[in-house]
Amino acid sequence: MIKKTIVSLLIFMLFSLQGSYAQTAKAAGKQAAIQDKVRALLEKMTPEEKVGQMTQVAIDLIMKDGGNQEIDEEKLRRAIVEKKVGSILNVKWTAYSLDKWHEIITRIQEVATRETPNKIPVLYGIDAIHGANYILEGTVFPHNIGMAASRNDELVEKAAHIAAIQTRASGIRWNFDPVLGVGRQPLWPRFEETFGEDPLLAGNMGSAAVRGYEGDGLGAPTAVASCIKHYLAYSVPNTGKDRTPAYFPEIMVRELLLPPFRQAAEAGSSSVMINSGELNGVPLHASHYWLTEVLRGELGFKGLAVSDWEDVIRLHTRHRVADSPKEAVRMAVMAGIDMSMVPNNYSFYDYLLELLKEGQVPMARIDEAAGRILTLKMELGLFDNPFPEVEAIARFENDSYAATALEAARESLTLLKNRAAVLPLPKDSKILLAGPGANNLGSLHGSWSFTWLGREERLYPESTLTIKEALEKKLNGGKLICRAVPDYHAYENYDALQLQEDARQADYIILCLGEEAYAESPGTITDLSLDPRQLNLAQAAILAGKPVILVLAEGRPRILSPVEPGMDAVLLAGRPGSRGAEAIADVLFGDYNPNGILPFSYPRRTGDFTLYDHKFTETVTEPHTGPNGNHGYDPQWPFGLGLSYTTFEYGDIRLSSTTLRPEGKITATIAVRNTGQRDGKVAVDLYTRDLYASITPPQQRLRAYRKVMVPAGKSVEVSFTITPGMLSFVNSGLKRVTEPGGFEVMIGDKKAGFTYEE
Ligand code: BGC
Repeated sequence: MIKKTIVSLLIFMLFSLQGSYAQTAKAAGKQAAIQDKVRALLEKMTPEEKVGQMTQVAIDLIMKDGGNQEIDEEKLRRAIVEKKVGSILNVKWTAYSLDKWHEIITRIQEVATRETPNKIPVLYGIDAIHGANYILEGTVFPHNIGMAASRNDELVEKAAHIAAIQTRASGIRWNFDPVLGVGRQPLWPRFEETFGEDPLLAGNMGSAAVRGYEGDGLGAPTAVASCIKHYLAYSVPNTGKDRTPAYFPEIMVRELLLPPFRQAAEAGSSSVMINSGELNGVPLHASHYWLTEVLRGELGFKGLAVSDWEDVIRLHTRHRVADSPKEAVRMAVMAGIDMSMVPNNYSFYDYLLELLKEGQVPMARIDEAAGRILTLKMELGLFDNPFPEVEAIARFENDSYAATALEAARESLTLLKNRAAVLPLPKDSKILLAGPGANNLGSLHGSWSFTWLGREERLYPESTLTIKEALEKKLNGGKLICRAVPDYHAYENYDALQLQEDARQADYIILCLGEEAYAESPGTITDLSLDPRQLNLAQAAILAGKPVILVLAEGRPRILSPVEPGMDAVLLAGRPGSRGAEAIADVLFGDYNPNGILPFSYPRRTGDFTLYDHKFTETVTEPHTGPNGNHGYDPQWPFGLGLSYTTFEYGDIRLSSTTLRPEGKITATIAVRNTGQRDGKVAVDLYTRDLYASITPPQQRLRAYRKVMVPAGKSVEVSFTITPGMLSFVNSGLKRVTEPGGFEVMIGDKKAGFTYEE
């Protein structure tokens, strides 16, 4: 009997192996066929056509002037027939209906495939960075900062897959996402687009997004090409302002910023967008070292490298490393840029053609770049059918998308404080709902939501609720007093006297503060403090003498310390998206047990950005420190914090061995017991600490995480595998090493020790 089982097992394994070999061989064959076709096509193409492929322009260049959203046929032909552009991007300041997208894409592809000699389709690119945010009725998910709070990679993949399906349904097959910058500068206006301050979250979740976008195979009607961005070091500008220089030593770049790109490159992302900023005095767009030696040579990245908005031109106009616009083009192309998002003129095309003719840029480089672009177009099936596909369009609507948006919003919400278990609230309470975020959609969505800034509320789907609307639906026998209006800045939203008067009739005050929607530079701030009008409102609420529940819809942590002690509960919503308001109502009234945990350290003071993975010396208090001295790691709320309506207790950490060897691994197992009355999900983070190392070791590093559901009164075992690679760091020779010695592993309030021996 046993023999028989072994034989069948062997046969099964043989077939499975054969199957996977056959699959790999098939994929390799398909790739080889594409490469043959690309070579043959390049041979037929003129230099103009090749350079045109490398040129990407904004939709404005093919649309009629002013507010008109119609294609200008003359401009369209100039772009595609005369300048032979390979790619078009963006919207003209508004989101389009599915039909409008079809009209636009169809007309572009008609001209490209009927009026050009080699009939090369156009690759249209869009920023669908938290769902199909530029399609009317598209589903919008929480921004990455909230997805990271969920500690749920599967959910990230699921959301990205829906974004892929809806984007492909519009006829677009290239998405400028995921963002892999690590959010270590909370002033930065794009903080909400990051997965927080830890590179593991960015790497794991970024890769999950790549799988969600591309996992079905680029040819499938449910896939889009992903674009990992912004390579490299965009998220750590010293000033905190957008597109300003980063001074970040290479050892730290390699330790903290490069790994997510390596991981997502290994996950197979087919394109990369370059950081507009500069790193240690060198604009990334001009860096052969980072774009070619490291990206291609070390990371083995094979996809297409596109510039960011106008950044080739800016090597001359802003960064001043190129003394002419033409030199800027030469620099960028020779550094490794394959496609220039020009995007408002044809200067790149004209200069590159000249440079090619003068021999300043070799044809081999042009063939390489154009080859990568054509390869992607072929993989995406654009040569077979460049038009919006019937099978893709049929998938645009599905009830499950809204359900996933709700699931994601719920898992992203992070309960930071709940004094005396004031939450959840009874549904028959009298509630005063106030604050600029109470009746505003933009603050729940943030950047890239139907418009770039996310502020055009008329473009949001009818089904999207504000917090006020969601609470109205939720209350049962209770009463809602709310005077908040949609305009974030309206006087009514900040009327402290009115608030105090209304509070007399209320059992609880729910105060919705934070930030209005913004994107990129318009979101720049010079002070992380919450704005004074909001602080004033918060003080008034505290003085009203009723329990105050603070709901924060914001893209980055705004300092709350002056009012935080007066808050009875704080719920961080981030930018929760299409179903965010309902998710907030679910948590406030106990229909959902919150389980998000912070992916960043929420600062307490405007000048203290100590992060969770600080060095020991960052916490040392000198004997003569004054009252304003070093507070160590003393954020308002630490990385990893998130409360639940139930309580969890951790058992001891059990290690499969206390010695780890180079080719070996250790399993760390822990029991998580739900000691409360409600079922609850819990996010379990595993950290390690290197006790002594040649480079000062951080106090802790996140190495793994898992989200588990634990029924009330029950216990669940969670196991993690620890490998030597997980304990590695970049040493002074810029090499990643794991040094022998003692380590600690920490989960919850428990820790255990082991040694790594070579
Ligand atoms: C942003 C990119 C975006 C591009 C195209 C730029 O301003 O930095 O993230 O993909 O615009 O919209």
